[in-house]
Amino acid sequence: MLYLPEGVERILVPQEEIDEIVTNIAEQVDRDYAGKRLVLLCILKGSVVFMGDLMKKLRTPAEIDFMKVSSYGSGTESSGTVKIVLDVLRKDLSECDFLIVEDIVDSGKTLKYLVEYLKLKGAKTVKTCTLLDKPERRQVEFVPDYCGKQIPDEFVVGYGLDYDERFRALPYVGVLSRSVYEK
Ligand code: PRP
Repeated sequence: MLYLPEGVERILVPQEEIDEIVTNIAEQVDRDYAGKRLVLLCILKGSVVFMGDLMKKLRTPAEIDFMKVSSYGSGTESSGTVKIVLDVLRKDLSECDFLIVEDIVDSGKTLKYLVEYLKLKGAKTVKTCTLLDKPERRQVEFVPDYCGKQIPDEFVVGYGLDYDERFRALPYVGVLSRSVYEK
């Protein structure tokens, strides 16, 4: 039996399915980035597990970089403003084909902002990759270039995703019990 910690109601995307999704995305990226200078840009913190698994499955040589933005306060709702907390440090953006790696797209504001930001900074190309997408929650027009799985509007945790910094280390994506945030 898999371990379900208190506060996690059920598993939404099991480990085996995540593995297949990541393999599939890696194959698509390999096809599309042959001969390019691929830079995987991990958006901290939630994307760190997906990023680690994805980069191990790629055959295309890839550099890695990190950014951190803050768009959410604590809890389950987005404050809606994107602020850069950690920027890319490299200077050779015009030579880089960036693939932004995200755990989840919700309102779409973070990725829409980051794509525009990197293009303004002179990146050669910018594409986006997300493990999960909640299209019902979109507040701005945004479609990721690579998407692992569309999910319904439920609060999910695990595989990098948190609730107030908890549950990130779970190996699957689970649904948070309403009782945790409706107290
Ligand atoms: C989450 C997620 C995305 C963003 C998506 O990050 O990792 O970066 O929210 O939401 P949006 O589409 O509404 O912009 P979060 O702010 O929770 O930070 P974390 O990754 O450090 O947990």
